[in-house]
Formats: sequence, C-alpha cells, structure tokens
Amino acid sequence: MPVPNSGQTDHLQVAVNELQAINSLIERICSVRETNHIMSIIINELVKLTQADQGVISLLPSGDQTSGRTIVRTRPQVPEELPYRVSEQLSGWVLKHRVVLLVNDLDRDDRFSNLSSEGGQFKSLICAPMIVRGDVVGLTSLVRRSARAPFSDADVRQTGIISSQSAQILANALLMEELARKNELLQESQSRLEEENVRLTDVIADSFAFEGVIGHSEAIRNVLALASKVCSNNSPVLITGPTGTGKELIARAIHYNSRRRNGAFVVKNCGVKTDTLLESELFGHVKGAFTGAHRDKPGLFREASGGTIFLDEIGDAPMSTQMAILRVIEDGEIRPVGASRPEHVDVRVLSATNSDLKQAMESKEFRSDLFYRINAVTINLPPLTERRDDIPLLVEHFLKKQSIRMQIENLSITPEALKMLRQYSWPGNIRQLENEIERATLICDTGGLIDVLDLSEEVRRGAGETVSAGDGGQMRGAVEKLEQEMIVKTLQENGGNIQKSARLLGLTRKGLKDKMARYGISAQDSE
Ligand SMILES: Nc1ncnc2c1ncn2[C@@H]1O[C@H](COP(=O)(O)OP(=O)(O)OP(=O)(O)O)[C@@H](O)[C@H]1O
Ligand SMILES: [Mg+2]
Repeated sequence: MPVPNSGQTDHLQVAVNELQAINSLIERICSVRETNHIMSIIINELVKLTQADQGVISLLPSGDQTSGRTIVRTRPQVPEELPYRVSEQLSGWVLKHRVVLLVNDLDRDDRFSNLSSEGGQFKSLICAPMIVRGDVVGLTSLVRRSARAPFSDADVRQTGIISSQSAQILANALLMEELARKNELLQESQSRLEEENVRLTDVIADSFAFEGVIGHSEAIRNVLALASKVCSNNSPVLITGPTGTGKELIARAIHYNSRRRNGAFVVKNCGVKTDTLLESELFGHVKGAFTGAHRDKPGLFREASGGTIFLDEIGDAPMSTQMAILRVIEDGEIRPVGASRPEHVDVRVLSATNSDLKQAMESKEFRSDLFYRINAVTINLPPLTERRDDIPLLVEHFLKKQSIRMQIENLSITPEALKMLRQYSWPGNIRQLENEIERATLICDTGGLIDVLDLSEEVRRGAGETVSAGDGGQMRGAVEKLEQEMIVKTLQENGGNIQKSARLLGLTRKGLKDKMARYGISAQDSE
C-alpha cells in the first residue's frame, strides 16, 4: 500500500477534523428537544466553523404554521450588528436549484446583477437548503463582509453537510412540538366536553322548571313567587340562605324559566382562588398574560354569553375581582387578563352567598357599590327547620329519585322514621336530608321500607331519642315489639286483610308482608 505524502496527510487530517466537528454537532442537537434550541446550536456552530460575520437559520412556514422561525447569530468579534436580511432572490435561487449557493463577491456576480453588497456588508455569502424527503424545510445563510476574504470551498462543504444532516433532526423536533400542542388542545377540548356533559346531565336530571323545586310550605311558595317574577327580566338577583337550602337549584330554575334558557347556565364558585386565577377563569386571558398562560383562554363570561352566570359564594371574591364583576353588571364589559381592550358580553348575573354581605361591607371586605348592584332583588331561602311541613314531600321526592337510581320499586318509609326526620334540626338542610335518605336506602334490609333504625345515629339522637351505642339493642327490641303488636292487632281487626291493614298502618302491601315475614306473623295468626 502506498504511503501518503505530507500534502495528502494534511488533507486527511482536515477531513478527519471536519468529520469530528460535524459528528459532535449532530450528537449535541440529537440530545436537545426544543426546535429553537436546536436551531441556535446549528447556527452558532456554523458561524464558528466558517468564521462568518453573521449567520441566519430559517424554517419555512409549513402546514398549519402561519409563519416560519428565524434565528440570527453574529460573530462576537463583529463590532456592530449587520442589518439582517436574506434577499429573496438569493433564497429563491436556492429553493429553485436545491443546492448550496456560494457568492464570492455580490457586487460582481452576474446571477444577481441587481443586488449589491451594500457597501461591502454582504460581500461573500453561502446559502444552503435544508431538505427533508424532497421538500426544502429551511435555509442556512452565512455572510462575510468585504474586509475579510470570501468563503472557502471547505466552508461551503461544511455548511452543506451540516444543513442537510441536521434537517431531519429539526423536522422531527418540529413534529414532536406540533404533536404535543395538538395533544394539549385535544385534552383541553375533551375536558370541556366532559364538563358540558356533566352540566347537561344535571340539567336533565333536575328537569329544571319549578317542578324540580319541591315544597308547598308558605316559605317555599314565597320564594317561588319572587323567582317567577324575576324570570322575565335581566336584573341581577342575589340568592341568600344557609348551606344546602337550594340556592343553586333556584338559580337554575330562574335561568331555565327565562328567555335565556337556550344559552348556557355557568356556575362559578368565587372562593379559594387568587384574584388573577379567578379573573382569568371568569374573564379569560390572552396568551402570555402571566406565567403558564400558553394560549388565549375565553373565560366563563364569554361561555355564558346569551345565558346566565351563577356566581356562588360571591362574598369570597377578592376586592379586585369584585370591581371587575361590577363593571360587567354595569356596562356589560369584561377585560380578559392581559388584554388591552374591554369586550362586550351579554350575560345575566345571578349570585349567591351564605355569609352576611352587609357585615362584610361594613368591614370593607365587600364593595358597597357591588352589593347594591347585585341585590336589586334578594331571594332568601329559609332553613329547612322553618319549612318542616315540606319534609314529607321532600322525602317522597328523594325516595323516588333513589328508586330510579337504584332500580328498586316501592321504596318507602315508616311513619315513625318520617316523624323523626320531621323532628331533627337539619344543619345541612335539604342536602343533608337527601344524603340521609340515600344512606338509609342503601343500608335498609327490609325490602325497601326505611325504618327508624335505618336512620343515621346523628338523626336519631338529634330527633330527641336517647339512643346510645350501649342501649341501641334495647331500643331495637322495644321498637320491634311495638311493631309486632301493632301489626297483629291491625290484622285481627281487619280479618287478616293485608291490603287494608297495610293502608291503616301507613305501609305498602309489600312493606307489611316483609315485616310479617320478618316477625313470623301469618295472616291466620291474626284471626
Ligand atoms: N326545594 C327543593 N326541592 C328539591 N330538591 C332540593 C330543594 N332544595 C334543595 N334541593 C336539593 O338539595 C341539594 C342542595 O341544593 P343546592 O346545591 O341548590 O343548595 P345551596 O343552597 O346552593 O347549598 P350551598 O350553600 O352548600 O352551595 C341539591 O341536590 C338540590 O337539588
Ligand atoms: Mg350552592
């Protein structure tokens, strides 16, 4: 094998150095994910390798990206920044010929006779295509000013190799970013769909209108009379009352009985949020308004446009949010966080609180101007203890709901248990009553007939019974004994007629038969 002479060894050494430089660059960009970061590594390296005064790497606009991306790097030794510009004629030439372009002296190049080096600033230049699967996806351009020698063939070669080798890596990074963005959008729209689904299910289940609001007491009739008056207008309504008294139920009923019923009914709890977070949820934000605001967000007021927004626990809204709410009520205007201009929305504001807003106003925690605005009309929901007469109807309603949910027919309650429910103080109001019925139907083991012992201990104790863990057995025994005696007596008095006896005992036929089976009573026993 012939031994290479010293000229050939130099040549080989240069080639090896070039390969090493290219290899280490490719390794570096392979370990990075972000497109801009990859672009900046490539152009930094090219400026360094070719001793260019300035380098530019641009990705061409493609697909649903409306604009390309460009990164410019200037050699540190260059005193002033060159006015960055890659002439369209030069890039057009590369896009057409799809090979690396070398211009030694722009002022003397026949191909671009109408371009000038602008006083020597763009004397010598290289422009290389970045090609992926036959498409030019980007360009790298390097310039040297007249004060320095034109680019060499080695510069052209290295630029060409690096541009073509890194093109695929850049394209992959772009694809990954695009996929991540689409995935995020997909997840967002999925969770919006889920929320909407829950909202619609609730609405259908409650079948809104006033039919879903149970009660015939004077208290609830007054509430409904006032609610029906405000359905026909757009004025704000403040709904007050202790927890679980039906504030949201009434707000829904107002919306679905108003002309806005075809618009959305959007609920927002104003508590436990920082002002920026709450404002961004209510009024939306523009991309970049704060850390984490990666894209524009419409906000709930826009979602409720044409419909109603229900601001729950409005007393908990921070002062600055209160100001913004006042602006929507007064002027129908919202200002998304970070937006320069306000926007008009058509939304009716209903709000609720179970705290004393007058007191909050006195202690300067609630704006008085907002207070007077939101309670143009106030609907106060009294606690359940002030409408005990509604308890039997409510119980019947919740039993029906449960029997549909659990697919059990004839859920019912004994008169004793119902009496206890009427006596209890219900600090959690109707919500607690509903939970109590739900719980009782789940643990009840007598064919769907809820009895005293199926009620929670809290209710039994609170209703005036002195049941304790120790004497629960005695109590059960006493109740059972009384039940047996009553059943036997009634059956005897009615000639063993189960249907009639059940009616007199306040039980269903099935309920009585279940109890007779439990106590071993047969119709003959009673004759
Ligand atoms: N009159 C009623 N008839 C039937 N169901 C009712 C009635 N009032 C309340 N409910 C039911 O009681 C539960 C609690 O009602 P709602 O959520 O409207 O109360 P709230 O006053 O908004 O409570 P909170 O202050 O805790 O938010 C709901 O399931 C609701 O459907
Ligand atoms: Mg509520």
